[in-house]
Amino acid sequence: MNGKRVLLGVTGSIAAYKAVELARELSRRGVVVDVVMTEAATKFVCPLTFEALLGRPVTTGLFDGGPVGAIPHISLAGAVDAVLVAPASADAIARIAHGLADDILCCTVLACTRPLIVAPAMDEDMYANAATQANIAVLKQRGAVVVGPASGVLASGRTGAGRMSNTHDIVEHTLKVLGRQGDLAGRKIVVTAGGTQEPIDPVRCIANRSSGKMGYALAEACRDRGADVVLVSAPTSLRPPAGVEFVQVLTAQEMYEATKTAVRDTAALIMAAAVADYRPTQTADEKIKKGPGTLVLSLERTIDILGSLRGDFVRVGFAAESNDLEEHARHKLEEKELDLIAANDITSGDSGFGSDDNRVTIIDRKGSVERLPLLSKRDVADHIVNRVVKLLG
Ligand code: CTP
Repeated sequence: MNGKRVLLGVTGSIAAYKAVELARELSRRGVVVDVVMTEAATKFVCPLTFEALLGRPVTTGLFDGGPVGAIPHISLAGAVDAVLVAPASADAIARIAHGLADDILCCTVLACTRPLIVAPAMDEDMYANAATQANIAVLKQRGAVVVGPASGVLASGRTGAGRMSNTHDIVEHTLKVLGRQGDLAGRKIVVTAGGTQEPIDPVRCIANRSSGKMGYALAEACRDRGADVVLVSAPTSLRPPAGVEFVQVLTAQEMYEATKTAVRDTAALIMAAAVADYRPTQTADEKIKKGPGTLVLSLERTIDILGSLRGDFVRVGFAAESNDLEEHARHKLEEKELDLIAANDITSGDSGFGSDDNRVTIIDRKGSVERLPLLSKRDVADHIVNRVVKLLG
């Protein structure tokens, strides 16, 4: 996202305090954030808060300072890649829907040809009111992305729909919009993640220690470059990324079926999931009771998903190894006839299972070996996606 610029329009709602975190999170993701505040917004949060956090001036009026001759709303509108109005009060939504031009935010939105994202925040009756609904419908009809609102406790103490969506969701939807023109725009990418669980009885299963973080980072990386992502995920404790099609599965067999359906019109399949190679031959209907002796579980092979799903798409596998990393990875690449394999050493303490970082070696069909240093899983994902983009031409 480095270099992408977002205009964050903050309007008069108690949720304005959450816009501070939103601005910071976008900035943390490499987005340059220019803040415009309506007069009402400044009653809730002070411009200095944004200025101190972002190190950039905040615009609050149509006639704010700047270079002589500069027209703030025109120069801002021309400089940004997207406009995000968060929180968007009922009043702000109405003004934007009606094309009013009497404050800095409305004028900038009116002058801007870039995508508009709106995160409504208001009391539930205001949100449910036919006028607000009609205004939101107008914005959607014009192509705006409306994120939320969420349901929960409102500033009035009532519970209902009207809370501004959480920061994570708004950030992710914004990144997706920013990636629309990316190098994967219009392409479908299927990513698998997490560790499958093979039931032994109603309470026990064979599982593994995959956190799913690598696969989720890959899904986000593809989404942020414009891809239509399907994320087929075995259980994890992670929040599904916004802006991707999310398919929850449990077992290797379920993952196979979901992935087989998903790859029909895909450009690439990236199998980051840790799929169980064996499952119990039988799943007990009742909980197995302990006894004095040894318990022997009979296991059978699961289907090799990546090995069996072939077609006119790029296929990327993962190899988690404890020894002879590159040799094992190369063997898997050849055996499954993959385009790329990303291998990681699970014995190194600073990367791999559960960690936020990974040290990965990428090997391709031609035998080229790219040994990456220890990086965040998101950075590793970006490297892998770069290679996929190259393969896709
Ligand atoms: N994989 C798969 N289906 C399986 C098992 C693994 O699609 N039933 C995928 C994984 O998602 C990964 C790659 O295949 O991309 C891993 O290759 P594999 O040789 O199966 O590795 P392991 O399961 O770790 O097996 P081994 O015990 O041979 O190391």
